Amino acid sequence: MEKTSTGMDSREIRQRFLTFFEKRGHAVLPSAPLVPENDPSVLFNTAGMQPLVPYLMGTPHPSGKRLANSQKCVRTQDIEEVGDKTHDTFFEMLGNWSLGDYFKEDAIKWSYEFLTSKEEGLGLDPARLYVTVFEGNDDAPRDNEAFEIWKKYMPEHRIYFMPAKNNWWSPGDNGPCGPDTEMFYDITSRGLGDMTKEEYLSADDRQDVVEIWNDVFMEYEKKDGKVIGKLAMKNVDTGSGLERILMAIQGKDNVFDTDLFEPLMRKIKELAKGGTATTTDIVRAERIVADHVRTAVMMIADGVRPSNTDQGYILRRLLRRAVRYADVLGVGHGTLSELAPVIAEKYKGVYDNVTEKMGDIVREIWEEEDKFRKTLERGIKEITRLISAGSISGVEAFTLFSTYGFPIEMTEEFAKEKGISVDRAEFDIEFKKHQALSRAGAEQKFKGGLADGGEKTTALHTATHLMLAGLRKYLGDGVHQAGSNITEERTRFDFTYPQKVERDVLDKVEAYVNEAISKVCTVKIEQMKKEDAKAKGVEGSFWEKYPDVVNVYSVVSPDGTQYSAELCGGPHVEQTGKMGKFKIVKEEAVAQGIRRVKAVLE
Ligand code: ALA
Repeated sequence: MEKTSTGMDSREIRQRFLTFFEKRGHAVLPSAPLVPENDPSVLFNTAGMQPLVPYLMGTPHPSGKRLANSQKCVRTQDIEEVGDKTHDTFFEMLGNWSLGDYFKEDAIKWSYEFLTSKEEGLGLDPARLYVTVFEGNDDAPRDNEAFEIWKKYMPEHRIYFMPAKNNWWSPGDNGPCGPDTEMFYDITSRGLGDMTKEEYLSADDRQDVVEIWNDVFMEYEKKDGKVIGKLAMKNVDTGSGLERILMAIQGKDNVFDTDLFEPLMRKIKELAKGGTATTTDIVRAERIVADHVRTAVMMIADGVRPSNTDQGYILRRLLRRAVRYADVLGVGHGTLSELAPVIAEKYKGVYDNVTEKMGDIVREIWEEEDKFRKTLERGIKEITRLISAGSISGVEAFTLFSTYGFPIEMTEEFAKEKGISVDRAEFDIEFKKHQALSRAGAEQKFKGGLADGGEKTTALHTATHLMLAGLRKYLGDGVHQAGSNITEERTRFDFTYPQKVERDVLDKVEAYVNEAISKVCTVKIEQMKKEDAKAKGVEGSFWEKYPDVVNVYSVVSPDGTQYSAELCGGPHVEQTGKMGKFKIVKEEAVAQGIRRVKAVLE
């Protein structure tokens, strides 16, 4: 059994994947930015399907029923695992989707073909492949259909039935979901051969087999954590982690030895001089620095800036953690930003904004490192004192955060290393008092968002479009969306504008929105070519993320007045009449050149 090593690099694999599915009728979409637009349920896209939620729920997609792309994703819930063979906080997910078109038969056939075909796919060794399928529960039956299809390609004894914990996939507590079938690849040098289910499970624990693809048969819907029934259509949502595929193809037992990381690991070793760590610690620290800085680079390229809330907090936490591990390695102060161009090189021609934004990226990393270093030494002295006293109270942990810039998770890590505890509950209370971040670190934030489609959230989404049109009317065309976060209670909207917006202007914007509501406007969805939409003055940010044909939502009154026309994925109300009364309750600065408003419907 050969350990596959075809010499294909990340660039070729990405391209082969897209070409393979394009040939099978899929429209290839660009990656959406890391920060989802109009979806407050997550801080970052954590899967390729996330930007597609409205379409999986039934909105027609302008590019058709078969889609494929390579989507930038961030998952930080396993941040402490980074340093092992497979975990990384940023990754690319190769995915193909059927929106009510093909189902299990083709999805499985194409996954198998792409993985094993030498001509069109990856040419992986079928003898190293293992498959899991859903064993069934109260929500859905055992997936015998997937099992029967797999038997055409795989020996039966390498297909294992697994419970929902392993083989049911949903993006959160709300939205589309379903049973899945997952493909695993044996990355050991000796080759594992046939395994019983128990042997297979322990190989999985040892990371001797790694999951390389997941086909989700998304025909169910979840609400508040419960499966509530079937969707109107049967979708396929697949995802294959590029970094893991690379391990399999390049015959490596960890992602950091693949071509995507190789120059970066080399650069880190070059910068590291005289660290004090042991060999195992060095490997882990190098991987942590590589992973965290790479994720930071991708986040900054997509517009995130270090801060104490939401996405900005995650970025800050990654960079500060990278500084800490850079010190373990003896990487010179102020040199983390030198890693950025090495990272960008791998994404040229794929995500060009990484190179285009290099100035911002280097500056932000340098400044964040500098800021943290100003207090780091004193902070370490303080934390060492607290640790030797035997415990860290919530108030002390909060001081470490507010005075010395130690993210709470970092304090917890320091404490854990010394076997002492931190009063997290007290810290959280302290934190709330200071109204800094709310539940940062968890991608899952709160209910609402596109997957929710609740009446209030939907109405606020339409109101947000009208508000942006109103802001542009009274403040000029320089105003564009810079971020949006909608819950059932309110819309929070960031936009580009250099100075404070006075209350009399906010009143005019409010009146504009309320006029559109009282006129009982219709919300129309039109599909048009991106170029035509641009030429017609349709409003949109991130044009580059949209495919060639786009959905334009316009709000038009019975007398023909157009109140708003904007690129969007929905959902929106059909008519504005029953939305309620619109009120802007707050206006403030969030960053240089960016203002934030909060508004409600009463
Ligand atoms: N959405 C599926 C996953 O992330 C494919 O595994």
